[in-house]
Amino acid sequence: MNAAVLETSRLLLREMTPDDLDFVATMLAHPEVNHHYERRFTRAESKDWLWRQRERYRRDGHGLWLVMDRQTGEPLGQVGLCMQEVEGARHPEIGWLLHRPYWGKGYATEAGGATRDAAFERWGYDHVISLIRPVNVPSQRVALRLGMTGGRTVRFHGFEHVVFGIAKEHALQMGSEAV
Ligand SMILES: CC(C)(COP(=O)(O)OP(=O)(O)OC[C@H]1O[C@@H](n2cnc3c(N)ncnc32)[C@H](O)[C@@H]1OP(=O)(O)O)[C@@H](O)C(=O)NCCC(=O)NCCS
Repeated sequence: MNAAVLETSRLLLREMTPDDLDFVATMLAHPEVNHHYERRFTRAESKDWLWRQRERYRRDGHGLWLVMDRQTGEPLGQVGLCMQEVEGARHPEIGWLLHRPYWGKGYATEAGGATRDAAFERWGYDHVISLIRPVNVPSQRVALRLGMTGGRTVRFHGFEHVVFGIAKEHALQMGSEAV
């Protein structure tokens, strides 16, 4: 198994390998998980998704990682940092998706908080964003819990998305209040 990129009290985040395809394909085929992506992911599309993350690791040093239960090693979802182009500029974006059985346990917020802190401390970014569709309230709640605020709306992958974000300076001011 790959070494952990990040660890939290309950979770371990690591780079995905081709062996993770069964889990990724099962999760992305779940209708509630892919609801806001407005498409059913075939196994071939899930494989492309997984390989895109591996390309991100190589190119940027980060991407969506696999979130695992650190006690059991069970895969729970994907959270991580992806470079996204918005209105002609590249921004580090925190993304999160969990397989359906693992919603409502605080895992996305816990993994997202560790990713936000690593974006500032390990990768040296001065801000992070999250692109979230206006209808995706559960995802917006994760962003708000991470101290992000919603801003302008942009077109991204064919849909309107609200640009949530937080600057490093603000995250530092939050200090121990931050998740
Ligand atoms: C977006 C998504 C990851 C949010 O999942 P989530 O389970 O609501 O978020 P978290 O994992 O942070 O869990 C938070 C919830 O767990 C609850 N919770 C239960 N036990 C908890 C614990 N020990 N610690 C913290 N929170 C806990 C919180 O109260 C919160 O519930 P609330 O929002 O009703 O107040 C999930 O809906 C998803 O995967 N959706 C499909 C993919 C997607 O849309 N991704 C985002 C694209 S922008």
